[in-house]
Amino acid sequence: MTVPDARVERTGTDPDTGYSSFRLGSFTFRRDEYFAHVGWPKGSHIIEVDRFLRAMVRDIGWGFFYGWIFFDDLFGTTNHYGTVDIFAGAYDRASREAGIDWLETFPAEAVREAFEAISQDWISEGYDPLNAPLETGSPIGPKGKPRTDPLVRSFIAADRMLGLPGDKPVRSDATGHPIKRAFADLDYEAPVIECEPGFEGQLHAINLFEHIARSDVTWNPSISAVTRANICCVTSEEHMLPVIHGNDRNEWFIQLTDEIHWTIADKNSGAPRGRVVMRAGDVCAMPADIRHQGFAPKRAMLMVMENGTPGLETRYASGELKPYPVEFG
Ligand code: PHB
Ligand code: FE
Repeated sequence: MTVPDARVERTGTDPDTGYSSFRLGSFTFRRDEYFAHVGWPKGSHIIEVDRFLRAMVRDIGWGFFYGWIFFDDLFGTTNHYGTVDIFAGAYDRASREAGIDWLETFPAEAVREAFEAISQDWISEGYDPLNAPLETGSPIGPKGKPRTDPLVRSFIAADRMLGLPGDKPVRSDATGHPIKRAFADLDYEAPVIECEPGFEGQLHAINLFEHIARSDVTWNPSISAVTRANICCVTSEEHMLPVIHGNDRNEWFIQLTDEIHWTIADKNSGAPRGRVVMRAGDVCAMPADIRHQGFAPKRAMLMVMENGTPGLETRYASGELKPYPVEFG
C-alpha cells in the first residue's frame, strides 16, 4: 500500500516515562524503559530499545542506504530512491505464512521526518547510538535531559577526495578527533607528496589509517573518495552492525585491520547462507541477493566500495545482472 501524503503524528506522551508515541501511516511506535514497540493492523513487534535506536539513527543518516535495512529479522525499511517502504515481517517466511506481514510505501522525506521525531524524543543526554557500547551510556530507563547536539553526524562525504584543497578535511586533533585507544599502536607517518610542476593541487595523498583511527563513531561509513559512481567509504567497527543490510547490488569489503565476522542469509526468506570471517588484508564481495550483518570483537577498520550507478537495483532485481560480481574458472 502506498501512503503518498502521510506525515508523522505524535499520538500521546506516557506520564510515567515521559516518552511520546507516534504514528506514520498505519504503523505505530511507542517505547517503554527497555523496549520499542511497533504496531500495524495485523500484528505488533518488540525490539530492545538500544538496538532499535542504533538502527534508526543509522538508517536516517545513510538516507536509507542501498536496498534493505533490517532493524532485526522482522522490521525495517527498503530504499526505492525517492520512496521508502516500512515493512514488518514482509521478508520473514514465518510471518508471511502466518499472514501477519505488512508493508507500506511512503515518500522518503516522510520516513526521515518520522524517524527523526522518534529518535529525538527517545534519546536523552549521555547516550549516543553511533558510539561503541563501551564508549557511551545506555538508553534504558525514563526520559532524561534532551540532547542538544546533532543526533546524526560524521557522515562527512568527500566531493572528490578527503584533504584536497576545498574538499572535506582529514580528521585531526584540530577537528576534535583524537586517536582512538584501539589504534594507538599504528604508524601515523604522513605520505610525502612530490609533484611534477604543473600538477600542483591535483596530486594528493593522506594517511587513511589515521583518518579512520580518529573516527568517534562505529558502523557508520563515510565517503573518503569518489570517482564517478565508484564510492569509497571507510569506517571503524566495534561490537555489532546494529542493522542487517539486504543488498540491491554487489558491495565490496576490504578488511584494513583486525577482524570482522559476517553472517549471511537469503535476502527474502532469511534462511542462513554462510559465514565469512575477514582478517586484515581480506577482500570479499557481498552479492546482490543476500542480507548480511557484521560482528567486530575489537575495533576494526573496514573499507566498503559501493557502486552508485543509478538504476542498478532494477537491473539486479530483473535478473539482467547476476547477483555476484565475478565468475571464476
Ligand atoms: C553494510 O551493510 O554493508 C555496512 C554497513 C555499515 C558499515 C559497514 C558495512 O559500517
Ligand atoms: Fe552491506
